[in-house]
Amino acid sequence: MNTSASSGRQHAPTALTLPDLLRITDEHAAALLDGQSDHLLPLDGQWPTDGRWYTRLHADDELDVWLISWVPDFATELHDHAGSFGALTVVAGTLTEQRWTGRELRTRKLREGDQAAFALGWVHDVVNGEPTAPSRHRAGQTLSVHAYSPPLTAMSYYDIGKGGNLRRTRSVLTEHPEDVALKEATA
Ligand SMILES: [Fe+2]
Repeated sequence: MNTSASSGRQHAPTALTLPDLLRITDEHAAALLDGQSDHLLPLDGQWPTDGRWYTRLHADDELDVWLISWVPDFATELHDHAGSFGALTVVAGTLTEQRWTGRELRTRKLREGDQAAFALGWVHDVVNGEPTAPSRHRAGQTLSVHAYSPPLTAMSYYDIGKGGNLRRTRSVLTEHPEDVALKEATA
């Protein structure tokens, strides 16, 4: 993570650094656990179970912060975050990330309290890793806080070709975090 953070300074598309984004996601995660974002959460704890759910916790010209609820068995794809830096803090549950290293996919688990930062060019896939027991803030899904700077405006999607190389399959304009765009939507 330190390597990513320092490289972020070299190619900064924003005044905020990756360490800034890590701190910001941590602060929003703490506020969420403290009940300060309850007004943004599903009423009566009725979290959607049929797909990913997200809500924006903060927005300004430099920064978007989102809360994402991840449900099990929901397919995602390799993607980047176009010209935005990104970071996350896992609030509850576990995420499994597969990241393209340049030669292969590398898998890691991100558990409650773990953080990750995404420099420009970071290509990954994130899914609900291990469902957890229901609690006040969740119904067994994984929750994470994500920050993007500049605010997310586009994502590109990838697959791995027969030769083992990463291939970009399409790019889409979107402000929705970690979203899975419809393949039919773009070329
Ligand atoms: Fe992502």
